[in-house]
Amino acid sequence: MRSLSIVDALFGPRDKTTILPPMKGIKTMAEAVHTRRVFSGIKPSGGLTLGNYLGAIKRFVDMQNDDFETIYCVVDMHAITVWQDPATLKFATRELVAAYIASGLDPAKSIVFNQSQVPAHAELGWIFNCVARMGWMNRMTQFKEKSGKNAEAVSLGLYAYPALMAADILIYKATHVPVGEDQKQHVELTRDIAAKFNNDFKVPDFFPITEPMIDGPATRVMNLRDGTKKMSKSGASDMERVNLTDSAELIVKKFKKAKTDPEPLPDSLEGLKDRPEARNLVEIYAALSETTPDAVIAEYAGAQWGRFKPALADLAVSKLEPISTEMSRLMQDTSEIDRILADGADRANAIAQPILNDVYDIVGFVRGRQ
Ligand code: TRP
Repeated sequence: MRSLSIVDALFGPRDKTTILPPMKGIKTMAEAVHTRRVFSGIKPSGGLTLGNYLGAIKRFVDMQNDDFETIYCVVDMHAITVWQDPATLKFATRELVAAYIASGLDPAKSIVFNQSQVPAHAELGWIFNCVARMGWMNRMTQFKEKSGKNAEAVSLGLYAYPALMAADILIYKATHVPVGEDQKQHVELTRDIAAKFNNDFKVPDFFPITEPMIDGPATRVMNLRDGTKKMSKSGASDMERVNLTDSAELIVKKFKKAKTDPEPLPDSLEGLKDRPEARNLVEIYAALSETTPDAVIAEYAGAQWGRFKPALADLAVSKLEPISTEMSRLMQDTSEIDRILADGADRANAIAQPILNDVYDIVGFVRGRQ
């Protein structure tokens, strides 16, 4: 006897096409059916910061040691939703892979590849364009922010991209997706698409209901000039961010000039409330030294910035310098990177293609060659 499907149990009658709330407790059931598999991706749109490192890449590296299968993608097809100069896109794609590898992603443990080399992403993406509803897409807040007053002139790809993101995840039946807070809504959309597909085609549990793993505040790196804004590669001043390619001298200078307040470091976390810049520097220190903000406060309680900032700068240099050195070595002759990507694409394809074959069959596409 077929067991009651998760989708039926949780979502009620089929053809329900409203946005569904995130479901608690689904993880164990999804995991019972599906292999624990992590998928995540970063857009190669150029310029990598300490924020990308602590917020994403370092987490990707740390998860390799958990009992997950890990797949990390350079999502070049997402990058072209806004104009990319072709030569710059190639450079940024390879540079991002260099950053992955230099930070400790091990291509023997994780699958590392660029999206465009695995056509199943685009193929499933099309099917998901036909599953997702206009009403769902119209609710995507990131699209509203990015298109702004210019909605008539942005690409159709920018609008549709969350459906391709769902395909990125589900073409591997990934159960877990580490992403930033800004991507939470897109993972919720992915869950809705999975549920609707399973439901419409009466294939209970075919796609997992993927869990987002949202980063906590400790991995959200803020702007060095304004602790209320996220560190971004596109901010007006280069002094507000640390780039993975910055020299040691520049890193030291940026931390020295980082905005703070006149107070010394407090003796408890409570004391960082309403001190966004101070809190950001403590959190960066904690993340880089793999400890907690509490432990940092315990060590530096009462310290003046004149003591803390140089310690933070030294720590940042000691962690980032080996990464930038290895990145430039890898970028000198990109054949090693290209080989890693080709191998990763083969391994990704070996997982994706059988899933796509099943999808085509489920949807009703005739294929002469099986
Ligand atoms: N949309 C993500 C971002 O802008 C990148 C991305 C594309 C992604 N596909 C993904 C992240 C799949 C996680 C899983 O940051």
